[in-house]
Amino acid sequence: MPLAPHSNAGSTMTLEAITTGATANRHRRAAVAAAQSLVRWLASPFVVIDTADGSVVAPQAQLPAFDWSQWNATLAQVAQVGRPALIEEEDPVAILAVPLSSAEPATLVAVSAFLTRPVHTSADFQRAAQVMRRPVDELWNWSQGRKVADPTALEQMADLVLAKLAADARIATLEMEVDELAQRIGASYEEISLIYRLTQNLKLSDSRETLAQLALEWLAEVVRTEGAVVQFDCPVTPRDIPGCTAPPTHHRVGACPLDETELGELFRMYEQDARHRPVVVNQAVTRDPAWRFPTVRELVIVPISEGSRVYGWLAIFNHPLGQEFGTSEASLLSSIGTIIGIHAANADLYREQSELLADVVRAMSSAIDAKDPYTRGHSDRVARVAVRLARQLGCDDETAKVIYLSGLLHDIGKIGINDDVLRKPGRLTEPEFEHVKTHVTIGYKILKDLRKMQHMLPVVLHHHESWDGNGYPHGLKGDDIPYLARIVAVADSYDAMTSDRPYRRGLEIERVDAILRKGAGQQWDARVVEAYFACRQEIAEIVNRGVDDNELAQLQWS
Ligand SMILES: [Fe+2]
Ligand SMILES: [Fe+2]
Repeated sequence: MPLAPHSNAGSTMTLEAITTGATANRHRRAAVAAAQSLVRWLASPFVVIDTADGSVVAPQAQLPAFDWSQWNATLAQVAQVGRPALIEEEDPVAILAVPLSSAEPATLVAVSAFLTRPVHTSADFQRAAQVMRRPVDELWNWSQGRKVADPTALEQMADLVLAKLAADARIATLEMEVDELAQRIGASYEEISLIYRLTQNLKLSDSRETLAQLALEWLAEVVRTEGAVVQFDCPVTPRDIPGCTAPPTHHRVGACPLDETELGELFRMYEQDARHRPVVVNQAVTRDPAWRFPTVRELVIVPISEGSRVYGWLAIFNHPLGQEFGTSEASLLSSIGTIIGIHAANADLYREQSELLADVVRAMSSAIDAKDPYTRGHSDRVARVAVRLARQLGCDDETAKVIYLSGLLHDIGKIGINDDVLRKPGRLTEPEFEHVKTHVTIGYKILKDLRKMQHMLPVVLHHHESWDGNGYPHGLKGDDIPYLARIVAVADSYDAMTSDRPYRRGLEIERVDAILRKGAGQQWDARVVEAYFACRQEIAEIVNRGVDDNELAQLQWS
């Protein structure tokens, strides 16, 4: 039997014609694909009939022009049962119906006629012509050159074709699912890894700007986008967020199609929507001639927020292949926007705490100065000179802050010294001096239980230690003296020497220099004294200038 694959151009064309028709849909396309397989494997033309209404969906000119409606009830049964069946057998013609079960609802069947034995004259078709209601000659002509097929084998072969099609469809579905799953796993892994990397970088000392820039760079590795932008609605300066009038700041990666003014306009336009959920805009919107940003084809916007406070916006622009952005991009961006928002809120809180601490420390240092009017402003000057020395020695911002606060509080223990000793206009007696010396341990006791003050304790306790071990309270020597205490010791001595006292005027700067030079490596750490000489002019200016709030602000309490 001629059951090998073979192409039948005429029937294929007719079948394909339906797939491009206006009424073609997915199910019909599947049915037609199944019918095409039957044509190939059974080497016979098939018509496709919709048994719902008896209409011929795909006609077939190479078959006799049967009135298919005469078999419609039987065809409907075949479609229902879902198995191929010979619906008519009248020697020497058999009609095979094959349900195209992949089509839903199951009403489509493919039907073809076969020659079941060799024929010699048109008379062989007398009976079949009568039963099948076609002229004898038409059947005779149709049979010419047609190969003979065994009816039972036809049924079995059709069964096999259907089974193969079902298996192919299942494999295709599985392959698609595996591909999708692999893509989803890959995308999820990249997203999780990005979010993990971001959370690893949530150090409060890093600004939200640093985190946003990192996020943008990593985002560009994970999401297919031509450009990404973060806009912070207000710049970071302490307490400036409510009612901020400063212009927004921007951070970008890749090619952003909008300038800063346009970005501001875009975010304002979507502000209300994007505040509550990601906004995804694709070409259905951007192709509209009324769209205001012609360089933007695809777009996702999410808020950078924490609770109800919105710090700004994160957006990606234009898929490089012109594809749509969807829920995966929107959800990833939302996570990143939330992480940056939480970081911004925490940084605000941290900054407020730091400012509060600085305020408290300044208030405490004012209290010391109030108690000892002869050294008014001493703590503040020591703090600022110590910061300058620390900078000269290469200290980082964090250390500079610690040393500033430590400088302010280094004499906090004087609160526990008798007023008449502190205010004594003349030189102190030996017992009085011993009493004053206790201010370092008193200061230590005052602060030691305050968690936020822990890092100031070494300065408070050891700022009167001497490099050669002759200082107090512990007589520490050299590098055993805490580093910051060695810096504050020089600043403290400098201010003590240059300030006027009731019993003497402040020393001339040349005299101070000489004392410091002589004491380097004896009373003080020679490296700190060296740092003093490297910036002594600036130190003199710092002391003469008095309190300068701008200078303090430069320490950046965030
Ligand atoms: Fe002191
Ligand atoms: Fe002091």
